[in-house]
Amino acid sequence: MSFEGKKVVILGGGSGMGLALAKKVISSGGKVVIGGRNAAKLGNVAVTLGDSASYKAFDLGDEAAVRSAFEAIGPFDHLVTTAAELTFAPVADLSTEQVQSMLVSKFWGPFYASKYAAPHIAKNGSITFFSGLAAYRPAPGASIVAALNAALEGFAMTLALEIKPVRVNVVSPGVVDTPTWDFLSNDDRRGLLESVADSLPVGRVGQADDLADAALSLMGNGFINGTVLHVDGGGRIA
Ligand SMILES: NC(=O)c1ccc[n+]([C@@H]2O[C@H](COP(=O)([O-])OP(=O)(O)OC[C@H]3O[C@@H](n4cnc5c(N)ncnc54)[C@H](OP(=O)(O)O)[C@@H]3O)[C@@H](O)[C@H]2O)c1
Repeated sequence: MSFEGKKVVILGGGSGMGLALAKKVISSGGKVVIGGRNAAKLGNVAVTLGDSASYKAFDLGDEAAVRSAFEAIGPFDHLVTTAAELTFAPVADLSTEQVQSMLVSKFWGPFYASKYAAPHIAKNGSITFFSGLAAYRPAPGASIVAALNAALEGFAMTLALEIKPVRVNVVSPGVVDTPTWDFLSNDDRRGLLESVADSLPVGRVGQADDLADAALSLMGNGFINGTVLHVDGGGRIA
């Protein structure tokens, strides 16, 4: 699949699945703009990606910053949001501040980004959001994560009708080995990933490249619209 002449904005592209996607877009001939909050981190990543990459640092919860970022970026082809900052804890232990912070990356961010990006996206372009398996396989400690993933999928389906012919799709990852699990100790992280791998029909957890390939397919296929693509190793059916 060629992305020659295409420009892809990846919010969350400084790490994990977003970074894997940025590498694949560039190796397919495209240009990327990666977004996140940490300018120093994004700058270093952009250097490693080369001349086809640039970055914009802003917080997805800052509406004015999101609007001016898209005004500065100008016309482009595909928007992808992989950004997330999530807290896993039982409802009884979650503070309002923690929930607000989760809402920023997985709800307000996609809302602001869609609102201010849509006028700049090519008519044959697309938006791809990232939700997650928690919406389908409830797990203690993931109530808000589940709710936000489900909300994002509902939002995407309706948005696809509002901004047609721009397509809107969602990738729903299962457990994937990315820096998102860095809050765990090395032993806990290894234990979690091994136990999830054992529970899955495919016998392994996801890699960032698995999800990047899925997002590339959704962006590149002009007839996929209003779809949730489950890339979870069979996590929903296990
Ligand atoms: N990894 C998994 O096992 C898994 C499972 C199910 C679903 N998912 C979903 O898949 C997507 C990608 O996950 P990942 O593991 O690749 O993520 P990741 O490596 O943790 O990267 C998330 C990125 O989001 C950016 N970010 C967080 N909050 C932000 C904010 N308020 N404004 C702007 N940028 C923000 C961070 O950059 P800065 O620090 O620079 O802001 C970071 O680069 C996420 O939506 C996640 O919920 C992941």
